[in-house]
Amino acid sequence: MPETELVKVHLKVKRFDPERDRKPYWQEFDVEMEESDRVLDALHAAKWYHDGTLSFRRSCAHGVCGSDAMVINGENALACMLLIRKAGLDITIEPIRGLPVIKDLVVDMEPFFEQYRSVMPYLVNTDDPGYTERLQSAEDRARFDDTTKCILCAACTTSCPIYWGNESYVGPAAIVNAHRFIFDSRDQAAGERLEILNQRSGVFRCRTAFNCTNACPRDIKVTEAIEEVKRAILYGRV
Ligand code: SF4
Ligand code: F3S
Ligand code: FES
Repeated sequence: MPETELVKVHLKVKRFDPERDRKPYWQEFDVEMEESDRVLDALHAAKWYHDGTLSFRRSCAHGVCGSDAMVINGENALACMLLIRKAGLDITIEPIRGLPVIKDLVVDMEPFFEQYRSVMPYLVNTDDPGYTERLQSAEDRARFDDTTKCILCAACTTSCPIYWGNESYVGPAAIVNAHRFIFDSRDQAAGERLEILNQRSGVFRCRTAFNCTNACPRDIKVTEAIEEVKRAILYGRV
C-alpha cells in the first residue's frame, strides 16, 4: 500500500491569556498533516507535540456539538469540518469575534446563550395532549425544518457586524431558534416570541448583511429565516 503523503502546514494562532498577557499575540507552529486531515487535527498536533498550553474547545469532532467555531483564514468555520486541502498550507486561526476571550480560542459563550434563552427556545403548549401525541402534518413540519438543524455554534451571530457593534442585538442564532418554534403548528407562544423580537434589540436590527448565512456550517438559510420572522411581526404568522 502506498504511504500517505504528508504536507507541511504553517499555523498562525492568536493567543491571549487575560490573567497573564497584556495583549493578544500570534504564535506560529509547523505541523505535518495529510491533506484530508481537518484544521482541528492540525490544532491537536500543535497542542500535543509543540505547546500543551494552547487552548481551544472541541468535543464531537464531526460537526455536531457546535463547540469549535473559530475564525479560520478570516472566516467563521468549524475547525472539525474544514479540511487542510481547502484551508491551504498557511492557516490563520483566531477566536470568534464579539464574545470575551477566556483563553486563546476559547470564548465566553454565556452572552450568546443568554440571547438564545431570551426567545423561549422550547415548545409551549398548555393543552392536555390526552393519550395521543401532538400530531402534525408533513407539510406543517416542513415549515420549520431548516431551522431545526441549528447546533448553536455561534458562527452566525459572531460574524454579524450589527452584533459586533451592539451586543444587545439578539443575533441571528437566537432568531433562528425562535423561528423553529414560531412556525411550529403545535406551539402556542408565537405571539410572545414575536413581541420579544419586535423590541429595540430584536429582529429589525438586522440589516441583511448575509454574513450569518455564509458562516453557517449547517447551511441554514439564516437570513431567510430572519426575514420570515420580520414578515410575521409586520403581517402576522403565515
Ligand atoms: Fe451555528 Fe448555523 Fe445555528 Fe448559527 S444558525 S448557531 S451558524 S448552526
Ligand atoms: Fe447580521 Fe445576518 Fe442580519 S449578518 S445583519 S443577522 S443578515
Ligand atoms: Fe463538535 Fe466541531 S468538535 S462541531
